[in-house]
This record gives sequence, structure tokens and C-alpha cells, in this order.
Amino acid sequence: MQQPPSLAAPRLIGRSPAFLHVLQLIARMARFDAPVLIQGETGTGKELAARAIHYQSARQHGPFVPVNCGALPETLIETELFGCERGAFTDARQARAGLVAAAEGGTLFLDELDALPLRAQVALLRFLQDQRYRPVGGARECSGDVRVIAAASPRLDALLDSHHFRDDLVFRLNVLLLELPPLRERPGDAALLAEHFMAEHTRRHALAPRRLTRSSLDWIARHAWPGNVRELDNRVQRALMLSDGDTLELSPHIPFALSGHVTVVTPSSVAPGALRSFHDAREESLQQFERDYLQSLMQLADGNVTHAARLAGKERRALGKLLKKHGLERRG
Ligand SMILES: Nc1ncnc2c1ncn2[C@@H]1O[C@H](COP(=O)(O)OP(=O)(O)O)[C@@H](O)[C@H]1O
Ligand SMILES: [Mg+2]
Repeated sequence: MQQPPSLAAPRLIGRSPAFLHVLQLIARMARFDAPVLIQGETGTGKELAARAIHYQSARQHGPFVPVNCGALPETLIETELFGCERGAFTDARQARAGLVAAAEGGTLFLDELDALPLRAQVALLRFLQDQRYRPVGGARECSGDVRVIAAASPRLDALLDSHHFRDDLVFRLNVLLLELPPLRERPGDAALLAEHFMAEHTRRHALAPRRLTRSSLDWIARHAWPGNVRELDNRVQRALMLSDGDTLELSPHIPFALSGHVTVVTPSSVAPGALRSFHDAREESLQQFERDYLQSLMQLADGNVTHAARLAGKERRALGKLLKKHGLERRG
């Protein structure tokens, strides 16, 4: 699975003391060719920070290759990372290079590192130690000139406590640890980012410029932002598309599944002559609510079912079933 080409050097928005400290760390980490571990809640900008380190580093002209460890099936991940030799599987007619080879001279970004299966952790550890690896199904050794930047949302101590994660890999990776603060701990940044996303999306959709209302600004400062910058971006986009005028209202009476969704009773369920049974009307509303909620939830969680379950306060299995019922299970 080849990743789409990398975007260029990102612009990082934020002026809070916590975020300025992050920017300083990024600049320092770019100067040294060592692995980096980025920790932060979903949507705090882990991938963006990884790109920033890459594009400020001596590897900036090499590739930036992002891999989502949680999106690849366990049986495929080693092949994806390290490639395979001809005949490694019945259908492997040709040797195939992996993403480590694709990142040669550049940076490999391993997102959702905590989802990496144990076997692949061993291979990665070995690669980090001596920059050597074996493609699946062969004895041949390859070497790669690749900087690894990994990201995880569980905190480091949780990773170290987990039986599914090798401590030696954590120690190897966290020589340079970059902790991204949640948006609620970055005073002033949410409003700044809201302005930034508003400008970006009005430009993209060729809309007239708009201003945030006073109540939006108050609400932005009070909201806890469980989905961090990604949630903010989604809310701004949604509000822009669903309303007109020269101001923009972000506060939660704009229907948003995660902040108390109001199901609108459709006229057909109450119109005289077309009145359906209470049971049918309720069932339809319920299905609609579930679909809307799950779509917003998965958007907020960036398609990660484990994060989504945590955000929604549901068990992962139960959430998986619901997603399946609505045809929203993740692919890949
Ligand atoms: N400081 C920032 N400035 C501008 N955009 C940001 C910033 N932080 C995050 N974003 C945007 O928010 C979204 C989520 O960021 P991402 O790096 O994917 O988060 P994570 O990998 O931590 O879930 C992306 O669209 C990203 O471009
Ligand atoms: Mg991410």
C-alpha cells in the first residue's frame, strides 16, 4: 500500500507558551538525526509535528513516508514495512520493496505505534539498532538510511505498562520525546486556529470572509476539545457549510453529534395523512442519530476505532458492531 505523496512543510499555528515550547523542541530535534517519539491526544498535531521535524531537518529533500500502524492488518504489516522476497507467499511472484525502502534518505513516520504487533516491534527494534532488516520470507539482509519518527496517543507510562508493547522499543524511541499539549491547555490557540481554518476553508470553497461571533469566541475558550485541533477544524468547516451571513456561530446549538445531537422530526412523520406509527418514526430517528453520531465520531477519531470507543465511552467491540451495522467499519 503506497502512501500518497507528502505535503510540503506545514505551517504550525499557535502562540501559547506550551505551544511555543513545542516549536522550539521541533527546531532542536530537527538538528539531530535520532529517532523521535511523539505523544499526544488524538488531533493534537502529531503528524504535522513529524512533518515539521522532517522538513526542518537535513533530510528535507528526501521522502516523508507516513504509515498508520493501526490501519494495516497484523498479517501484512511486516511486509508493508520491510518488503518481501519472491515466493514469500503463494501469491508473491516478485520481490517487493517495503515502506522502509520507500523512505530511503528520508523519514518514516509510524503513526499509532501502539498498534504495532509484537513481531513487527522486534524487527523495528533491530532496524533502529543497526539500520538493518530482512525482507519477509528471505535471508537477505538490507540496510536503510531512514530516520524513524513514531507517534502514539497513550501516555508513555501506559505503553510501558502494556504487555503488548516492548519496553526496549519505547526506550530506543524516546531518546527524543515530543509531548504535544491538548488544545485545552493552550490558552488562546483555539481562537487563533479557528481564524486560520475559517480563512483556509472560505478560500477553498470560494466563500466571502466571515467573522466569529462573540458567543463563539467565549464558547471556544470554554470547550474542552476532546478531539483537539481536528475537532476544531471539523466544527469550523461544518458551520461554514451549514450557515450563511458575515458572522460565524460555532457554539453547540449548531447540530454536532458529539455535543448533544438534536434529531429533527421529519415532516413526513407528523404530517397529517402520512403519520407513521410512533414506533416506526422513533426507530427511523434512532437509526439516523446513530449514523450521524458514528460518522462525526469516526471523523474526530481519525478513523481509529480504539480512540473512538474511548471518546464515546463505549466498549471497542460494541462500537465495532455498531459501525458494521451502519457500514462504517474501517477499511484497509
Ligand atoms: N498547530 C497547528 N496548526 C495548524 N493546523 C494544525 C495544527 N495542529 C494540528 N493541525 C491540523 O489538525 C488536524 C489534525 O492534526 P494531526 O497531525 O493529523 O493530528 P494527530 O496526528 O495528532 O491526530 C490536521 O488537519 C492538521 O493539519
Ligand atoms: Mg494522526
